[in-house]
Amino acid sequence: MRVAIGSDHAGFRLKESLKEYLEDMGVDFVDVGTDSEESVDYPDYAKKVCELLKRGEVDRGILICGTGLGMSMAANKCRGVRAALCLFPEMARLARSHNNANVLVLAGRLMGAELAKWTLKAFLETEFEGGRHERRIKKLEGIE
Ligand code: RB5
Repeated sequence: MRVAIGSDHAGFRLKESLKEYLEDMGVDFVDVGTDSEESVDYPDYAKKVCELLKRGEVDRGILICGTGLGMSMAANKCRGVRAALCLFPEMARLARSHNNANVLVLAGRLMGAELAKWTLKAFLETEFEGGRHERRIKKLEGIE
């Protein structure tokens, strides 16, 4: 699996910490920035991750801003993207198994690194259940 990870300034520190975790897990990733805590605009980084996903260059995306809200709003404007703001591992497990989420959104100012790592682990390791959930995903796509 290959993932794209991006953040704004408020998610930068958590992004750096999660990159180490991805390396430890042997997950291949591309970092689209940002590269410091200097103020930037979260939609720019949501767009970069979503474009890689849409082009099929990565299988999943990870986005981090302060609350996770702005990144969620931005990513869910991209066709084919199902971005889920997950604040703990069970949310990530259900976002994958029921919603087939392809982008995990984390809150850099609200989550500690350890909680974020467990949430990311659940997101990467959980498969979509399909079945009745497939019908609901089709209806989501119908709204697009
Ligand atoms: C940046 O200050 C903050 O607004 C941003 O990281 C995010 O939380 C927006 O939703």
